[in-house]
Amino acid sequence: MKILIFDTSEMATSRAAQQIIDRVAAHPDCVLGLATGGTMPPVYRHLTNAHLAGSVDFASVTTFNLDEYVGLTPDHPCSYHHFMAQELFDATDFDRSQTHIPMGNAPDPEAEAKRYDAKIQAAGAIDLQLLGIGTNGHIGFNEPTSSFGSRTRIKTLTKATRSANQRYFSDGEEPPRYAITVGIQTILESRDIVLLATGESKAPAVATMIEGALSASCPATALQLHPATTIILDQDAASQLKLREYYFQVHPNGQETPIV
Ligand code: F6R
Repeated sequence: MKILIFDTSEMATSRAAQQIIDRVAAHPDCVLGLATGGTMPPVYRHLTNAHLAGSVDFASVTTFNLDEYVGLTPDHPCSYHHFMAQELFDATDFDRSQTHIPMGNAPDPEAEAKRYDAKIQAAGAIDLQLLGIGTNGHIGFNEPTSSFGSRTRIKTLTKATRSANQRYFSDGEEPPRYAITVGIQTILESRDIVLLATGESKAPAVATMIEGALSASCPATALQLHPATTIILDQDAASQLKLREYYFQVHPNGQETPIV
C-alpha cells in the first residue's frame, strides 16, 4: 500500500483526481471504476474542470460504478445513476453507452449482479478503481462479513450505512435495505486502486484498513492483498494511524520523490 497523507482534504482530493486524469491522458480508452458518496463530488469537480479546460477527454473511457440501491429507478433523485449524471457525466464528454451502473430496478437483481460482473470481466477488468471507505470499513457496499472472494451481488445494508446515507433522502423516505455491489474479488482484480478518505469520522476505519489484521469484519483490509493500491488521506482521516510518522517520512506531504 502506498499511503499519502496531505494537510488538507482539498489537497488529498486533488491528488486522487490527478491520478485519474493522468491515467486517462496516458490511456484514453481505459476502464475506470467509479464511486459515489459525499467524498466524491469534489473529485468529479476536478475532472470536470480539467475537461472544460481542455486538459483531458473522456470520450473513449469505459466506466463501471461500484453500486446501486435495489429498487430505485435510474431517475430517482437518490439513485447513483442520478448522482453520476449530476456530478460528472452531464458536464463532461463521457460516452453514455460506455458508462455502466447496476440497474437497481432490474426485475431479477441477482441476475443483474451476475450480468454486471460478467460485463466487467468482458471489458478486461478495471484499470483504475476509485474507492471511498465507510465508517464501518466497507468498500463499495461490501459490508462487514463480505467475503474477500465475493463478486458482484446483493448485500443487505447495515443500519450504520443506511443512517449515514439518510441525509440524501427526503423526509419520510428511508434508504433501501439492499444494494447491488461489485464484490471484493472483482475490486481486487483492478490493475490499480486509489482510495480517498477525508475527515475525522473515517480515522478508525482507515487505521484498521491499513494497520489492522486481514478480516471480513473490516472489508477494506482486503486492499492489503492488492499490489498497487494508493491510499490518499487528509490529516484528519490519518489521525489514528500508529505509523503515521513513518508514512509521512516515506512520502513527505504526500509527495512521491524518486529514490536515488
Ligand atoms: C459508494 C461507495 C461507498 C462510499 C462510502 C463512503 O459508491 O462505494 O463505499 O465510498 O460509503 O461514503 P462517503 O463518501 O459518503 O463517506
